[in-house]
Amino acid sequence: MAATVNRNAVSIFMQVFRLFHKNSDNLMKYVCYCNLHCTSTFEQDGQKGMKGRKLSSQLWLKRHMDDPYVKRARLKNYRCRSAFKLIEIDDRYRILRPGGYVIDCGAAPGSWMQVAVERTRDVSTGGPQPTHSIARVIGVDIIGFPPVDEAKAFANSDFTLPETQKTILQYLQGRKVDAVLSDMAPNATGHKAMDHENIIDLCKSALRFSRAVLRPDGTFLCKIWKGGLEKDFMQEIQQFFKSVKFVKPLASRMDSAEGYLLSRGYKGLPDKT
Ligand SMILES: C[S@@+](CC[C@H](N)C(=O)[O-])C[C@H]1O[C@@H](n2cnc3c(N)ncnc32)[C@H](O)[C@@H]1O
Repeated sequence: MAATVNRNAVSIFMQVFRLFHKNSDNLMKYVCYCNLHCTSTFEQDGQKGMKGRKLSSQLWLKRHMDDPYVKRARLKNYRCRSAFKLIEIDDRYRILRPGGYVIDCGAAPGSWMQVAVERTRDVSTGGPQPTHSIARVIGVDIIGFPPVDEAKAFANSDFTLPETQKTILQYLQGRKVDAVLSDMAPNATGHKAMDHENIIDLCKSALRFSRAVLRPDGTFLCKIWKGGLEKDFMQEIQQFFKSVKFVKPLASRMDSAEGYLLSRGYKGLPDKT
């Protein structure tokens, strides 16, 4: 009996371990959506919410409920704890400014967009930006997500497809933007090296796009999972930006390979001669 319990405990621990370490993007999506949908139901149900769930789900929910960033996100009405990653980076490096234009790649469920809307709102006009103009914050995601007030969302759109990028450029009508953010995370395969390559590919796509759309001196911020290729990628970025550095906000879990490359001072496109 005791041996069976122990075997079950080990097997559950391994499942949780795998979930946290190999599927961090799935986990993040789940965290995000739990913040939106599941947690309140769970809180309302109290202990009933725990009963009938697998131990692995119970552990996950407990960690989620105890997470101070999840609590703060709920208090501040952010859709996802990720909001605090951008808040921390922006508090420290000032990448969002009132009146600025921002493109958010991998935007669902929309907490970075919420932060970007708050921080780019033109304080001189006193209120929300006019709805007839181009939205200051444009978000794109391969999955669907609810609209964000004062922002433009391109949902169910794969950012890496040329037609998606063309649609965003058409929407901008030639306007250059101040910052391109990418919190895009591919579906984890469970194979660390492959997941690392996949996220670097997404970053490269965002970098190419940012070169077409950023104003000179603009900012490019992208999420990576460390794994080796980021060094070459940082060198690639350095051709186009005055500086690039690896940043890991406190809100990014210490046990994850996640971090962000912050590239500032876009050098602009070379003059056509
Ligand atoms: C960590 S979540 C982003 C969370 C978001 N920053 C927030 O705060 O609400 C990563 C997102 O990247 C999106 N993604 C992954 N591949 C993508 C692609 N090719 N095009 C657009 N979005 C993509 C996923 O659908 C997912 O919603």
